[in-house]
Amino acid sequence: MMNIAVFASGRGSNFSAIARAVKSGKLKVNLALLVCDQPAAKVIAKARRAGVKVALVKRADFASKKDFEAKIIEYLEKEKIDLIALAGFMRMLGAELLQKYRGRIINIHPALLPAFKGSVGIKDAFDYGVKVTGVTVHFVDEEMDHGAIILQAPVKIEEADTLESLEARIHKIEHKLYPEAIQLFAAGKLQIEGRKVRVSIR
Ligand code: GRF
Repeated sequence: MMNIAVFASGRGSNFSAIARAVKSGKLKVNLALLVCDQPAAKVIAKARRAGVKVALVKRADFASKKDFEAKIIEYLEKEKIDLIALAGFMRMLGAELLQKYRGRIINIHPALLPAFKGSVGIKDAFDYGVKVTGVTVHFVDEEMDHGAIILQAPVKIEEADTLESLEARIHKIEHKLYPEAIQLFAAGKLQIEGRKVRVSIR
């Protein structure tokens, strides 16, 4: 089975969704590691409860981003990580990680990319007044919220929606879509061809 690491900085609802999918057998991977850069993040307790190893790596403890990522890579190598799933990790990855794990890092974004990139994608879509937004899972490259798209799911914005009700619906879709995307990767069903990801159906 593939070893996966989730990178998160905050609440960790996607981490929990992945852990649940692993536990139920829907997602056939070994959830080997949580990498977290924020000591106060709620995701840490969630990982401990789920019995997942935690690597807490604070950027401030390192002189450079290169050293910070070298430490993370040490943890990843120790656990023989095959796939990195970013789930609310509030940092751009640098050259160290990107080069070493190219094609093996994915991210979830709470909007239909390339619309509404950035850290407040749900609010930006809501404020803009679009009628349809959604969720994107994509490979990670040097640019923010930019790499080849693996899966997307639409979410309609209804008249009665508030930002909070929309957020709740988006997160619900995220929690379903991310384990699906990881399972496709783990089963060897994803092939990157330039900007496109070919998804085999069998
Ligand atoms: C999610 O909305 C994800 O799409 C975005 O950050 C949020 C993380 O939420 N990248 P959580 O920590 O998984 O609850």
